Amino acid sequence: MKRVKVESFLPLTRITLIQALMALLLVYLLFMSLEIPLIFKTGYGYEYGSVSGDGSLGYALPRSLLVDNDGAARTVFDPHKVVHRSPERRMRETKRVKRLSGLLFNETIFDASDIADEFSVLHKAAKEAWLAGKKLWEELESGKVQANLINNSNTADNRTERCPVSIALSGAVFSARNRIIELPCGLTLGSHITVVGSPRWAHQEKDPKIASLKEGEEALMVSQFMMELQGLKTVDGEEPPRILHFNPRLKGDWSGKPVIEQNTCYRMQWGIPLRCEGWSSQADEETVDGLVKCEKWLRDDDANSEDSKATWWLNRLIRPKRKTQFTWPFPFAEGKLFVLTLSAGLEGYHINVDGRHITSFPYHTGFVLEDATGLYLNGDVDVHSVFAASLPSSHPSVAPQQHLEMFRKWQAPILLDGKVELFIGIISAGNHFAERMAVRKTWMQHNLIRYSKVVARFFVALSGRKEINAQLKKEADYFGDIVIVPYVDNYDLVVLKTVAICEYGVHTVAAKYIMKCDDDTFVRVEVMLQEAKKVPRDRSLYIGNINFYHRVFRSGKWAVTYEEWPEEEYPPYANGPGYIISSDIAQFIVAEFQSHKLRLFKMEDVSMGMWVENFNSSKPVEYVHSFMFCQYGCTEDYYTAHYQSPRQMICLWEKLQQGKPHCCNVR
Ligand SMILES: *[C@@H]1O[C@H](CO)[C@@H](O)[C@H](O)[C@H]1NC(C)=O
Ligand SMILES: *[C@@H]1O[C@H](CO)[C@@H](O)[C@H](O)[C@H]1NC(C)=O
Ligand SMILES: *[C@@H]1O[C@H](CO)[C@@H](O)[C@H](O)[C@H]1NC(C)=O
Ligand SMILES: *[C@@H]1O[C@H](CO)[C@@H](O)[C@H](O)[C@H]1NC(C)=O
Repeated sequence: MKRVKVESFLPLTRITLIQALMALLLVYLLFMSLEIPLIFKTGYGYEYGSVSGDGSLGYALPRSLLVDNDGAARTVFDPHKVVHRSPERRMRETKRVKRLSGLLFNETIFDASDIADEFSVLHKAAKEAWLAGKKLWEELESGKVQANLINNSNTADNRTERCPVSIALSGAVFSARNRIIELPCGLTLGSHITVVGSPRWAHQEKDPKIASLKEGEEALMVSQFMMELQGLKTVDGEEPPRILHFNPRLKGDWSGKPVIEQNTCYRMQWGIPLRCEGWSSQADEETVDGLVKCEKWLRDDDANSEDSKATWWLNRLIRPKRKTQFTWPFPFAEGKLFVLTLSAGLEGYHINVDGRHITSFPYHTGFVLEDATGLYLNGDVDVHSVFAASLPSSHPSVAPQQHLEMFRKWQAPILLDGKVELFIGIISAGNHFAERMAVRKTWMQHNLIRYSKVVARFFVALSGRKEINAQLKKEADYFGDIVIVPYVDNYDLVVLKTVAICEYGVHTVAAKYIMKCDDDTFVRVEVMLQEAKKVPRDRSLYIGNINFYHRVFRSGKWAVTYEEWPEEEYPPYANGPGYIISSDIAQFIVAEFQSHKLRLFKMEDVSMGMWVENFNSSKPVEYVHSFMFCQYGCTEDYYTAHYQSPRQMICLWEKLQQGKPHCCNVR
């Protein structure tokens, strides 16, 4: 390099050459003095929040996430930008929007004592939920709840001020709080949590899920614990998402060696685990903030592990210039105190133990730092203390309804009287504000929906919390895409929403086809129509990821009692996250429901399978099965993807707009 420069200066005199070199040196020095603080700021940047400029600290996201999300993060609810419309105009719009489901639920029919059949359990629950819902809805309509909402919003403001910069808990307090440390405002870049603890001694594991024993085998000795960053605030009544699951298995697992497993889990759907087994990550593998995902540690099958310490010293003494590395043992040992620090970097989470870097876990598209509102520890570990520090000082979205972005462009288009081909009913819950907003901003922007060839609506029941309902009503009034099914929400009664979808699709929209999906389902709208049109017009159809001959679980978390479902097998049924039926089937379902002949089962997808089977006995139904209606996550060229978090939705939509139906499961 230098030679080239000197050569180019050749025509100059010697003095000017020296001067030029001096100038070059000066420029270089100036550059150096500027460069160093620049590196500090953008590197492992604790200052990043203040650099972001717009002052909204919550969007001091890791850049990778900002890229995934494009401008979306910056357009989040801004009270100054809300489009205010005249009251007359709003009145007109409210009229055109049918907010309440037209489903008639006749409570009196279930008062009769003669219907003591096996299905009356669910009917009774439905009746109670419907009666309670009626009361809530009347209250909501009267405007009483509105005032309470104003009161509540004051307390919400107060909450935003309670963002402690650091939190310290002793082991005793931590245990008393069910081994959870709450981080009210989540994490931000540079936040770190330190756990001082010691792994317990191994015990015999009898849990068949962890150690499956064969006859005569001795019980396995197991010592393991997990540390999880969870999204506690997201939605109540659901399992919180596990944003980072860190699980050291001191005695190893099926691999037979100590291992650290890391993963994420959203709506009970686990990602691909990152397993660190003591080998350093490959040199060509992606790093996280320049750190490897897995550090090497001493394995007992390493050559001359015994004297590695001595070799290391020897190497240092004999060949001081050669770069040698000392290999440390597995970072956790039974009964040995450890100091673990989890920190939030630019590209991922870093875990250091006793001052050494151990693992790094890249951020996943589905989550942002502020979502991590709790740290949970469980398993064979005694926690002595937990400290969290450098936490964010404010939180832009403490209340979930603040995910709403009140812009006209996200409002539902007017329902035209023309022919609607497909109606999509999206099952949602009252407080799934962020999920609904993600759907509005992504696949509900499809041209087929914008031009009312396809209509999509959310189906939401009422919440026990009045402020949620008031917020929901406001949301429904503004966006015009919510149908409220007036019963008190209950997971076992989701089947009522399915019936309401059929009712709306038949009576309000008069669509040819009716589709049901969830608010974490990403739908390729045009593919839905294509698939439906493959079946001849005069045929009845049932399209989805169809299960044939599924047996009923009688034990475990999802157990179904004989009272609920007496048969040993389910009828063929399409998985719940996305299926399509023809309108004649929907009509049949609504008619049966209104005449109290419809059998209800708590699993809405099985119920649909049962109803379609009934219908099939009078008119044959075309069953179309495709795995592309993904039940678990996403596959390339999916028709529908499931378990997609709001951020993944935006990522999928962006890819789809480039013509690529690719997944956003992992970075
Ligand atoms: C409910 O059902 C009963 C008995 O079938 C009937 O007499 C009554 O009119 C129904 N009520 C409504 C509101 O449909
Ligand atoms: C707020 O609640 C209090 C009682 O909790 C009530 O007296 C007051 O009227 C409420 N404020 C508004 C604006 O409704
Ligand atoms: C905010 O909350 C604190 C503690 O909960 C309370 O003492 C304080 O009065 C509240 N402030 C306002 C303005 O409501
Ligand atoms: C639907 O009905 C036809 C004719 O009755 C029968 O052959 C077929 O097995 C039925 N399909 C299902 C899935 O029940």
